[in-house]
Amino acid sequence: MFNNIKEDLKLFNDIVDCFLEDEKNNPISQKINIKDLGKKLDLSLSDEPAIKQDFQESLKQLVLSTPKSSSKYFFNQLFGGRHSKGVLGDLLSVLLNSSMATYKIAGPQVAVEKEIIKKVCEMIGYGDKAGGTFPTGGSMSNFMSIVIARDQKNKAIPNKGFRQNFVAYTSENAHYSVAKNASFIGLGKENVCYIKCNKHGQIDVGALKHQIEEDKKNNKTPFYVNLTSGTTVLCAFDNIEEVALVCKKHNIWLHVDGAFGGSVFFTNKYKYLINGIEKSDSFCFNAHKTLGVPLSTSILVVQDSEKLHNSFTSQASYLYQTHEKEYNLGYNSFECGRRNNALKFWTMWKAIGTKGIASIINHEFDLADYAREYITSNKDYTLYSFNQSLSVCFNYKNYDPIDLCTKLYEYNKLMVGFGDFNNRCFVRLVTINAENSKENILTFFKTIEDFTKECDSEIKKNN
Ligand SMILES: Cc1ncc(COP(=O)(O)O)c(C=O)c1O
Repeated sequence: MFNNIKEDLKLFNDIVDCFLEDEKNNPISQKINIKDLGKKLDLSLSDEPAIKQDFQESLKQLVLSTPKSSSKYFFNQLFGGRHSKGVLGDLLSVLLNSSMATYKIAGPQVAVEKEIIKKVCEMIGYGDKAGGTFPTGGSMSNFMSIVIARDQKNKAIPNKGFRQNFVAYTSENAHYSVAKNASFIGLGKENVCYIKCNKHGQIDVGALKHQIEEDKKNNKTPFYVNLTSGTTVLCAFDNIEEVALVCKKHNIWLHVDGAFGGSVFFTNKYKYLINGIEKSDSFCFNAHKTLGVPLSTSILVVQDSEKLHNSFTSQASYLYQTHEKEYNLGYNSFECGRRNNALKFWTMWKAIGTKGIASIINHEFDLADYAREYITSNKDYTLYSFNQSLSVCFNYKNYDPIDLCTKLYEYNKLMVGFGDFNNRCFVRLVTINAENSKENILTFFKTIEDFTKECDSEIKKNN
């Protein structure tokens, strides 16, 4: 077998045909027990090349055995579905294999990334100095924001290290990356202060204010507030307007983690959920979560691009050999060689326009409304989440949600996860696959109802 791109792309197309057919006919992923993997699939590597037919068959079986994350039975994670134009763009970026560090290497791909960042900054009301980058995901976007915040508080830190009593704030419902990032930057997880939430899962602004004032009295240095637009479990939106005033008063960097729900700014109907976003210092959202762009597509924008640049720039004569810094994107990124994650989003945006993107999000909110209506009109269900959210949290009868979700997976019925809030555990249905219809949401509930009837005695119950 040779290194032959045309031949391999032909094989790719054959596998794709097979996969799409399988996805249509068998949308439910068949779980493979870990101990059976070796029997079902040939994953072994050896010194000798594989025989062509064996190679092709192993590859095809591997693809067909992988959980189908775009199927209408996949509700497990904060991504789902696939937009064909996003896939097209991503395949082309693989083929081009650019690295986004410099204009010399990536040419017009640099302008693709810059165009998206410019549009996003305009749409959220950031001023003329704004800029951004495409980090590897929401966790990395949050990481970069806390680094900038730290450096802004004390510009000596990047060179001299960290000695003061810095404190970062976020809500008790924030994503776990905030704690990890605190450890990575040398702040320490114990110096993240988790502010309690109100009954809707949003940060309690009064408690935040009070905590900051207390910490200042105790000679601590508040430097970073991380708000969430779309918390991971409940998809709750923190109040940006009010927290922006607090941050301004105390000179604290305000980052808004919109990895899950931040893309609402594309819609007229739901952009109010992030009112005040123009007053934040940085903001990120994941186009791979709500928009169906392939993983990973995260966009970080910063109100003052100089600050992003100052924290992430490095001189490297072996890399930056031509063009101005504005077109050498490596000066603003964490990585050196950086994958082109902009093209897939640009391809989709170009094809369907801002209106097309808005309609994706509106449809996902419609699906969530539909699911909530189904739950509230059926006495066997209890709803735990709130309106204006893409996360619909519920329990069915007295079935234990952890056991129910696990058995649904083990019996190859559907993939959905569980979450908890205020000491309540529940099933979490996320309506972020825009290819789903209301009928698919109904099928989701019917699957649970039929399955629990069929396997009632096997599923744990709670009183
Ligand atoms: C609110 C929030 N922030 C950040 C992340 C992390 O994003 P990523 O998985 O792209 O690192 C998630 C992921 O679910 C999230 O829900």
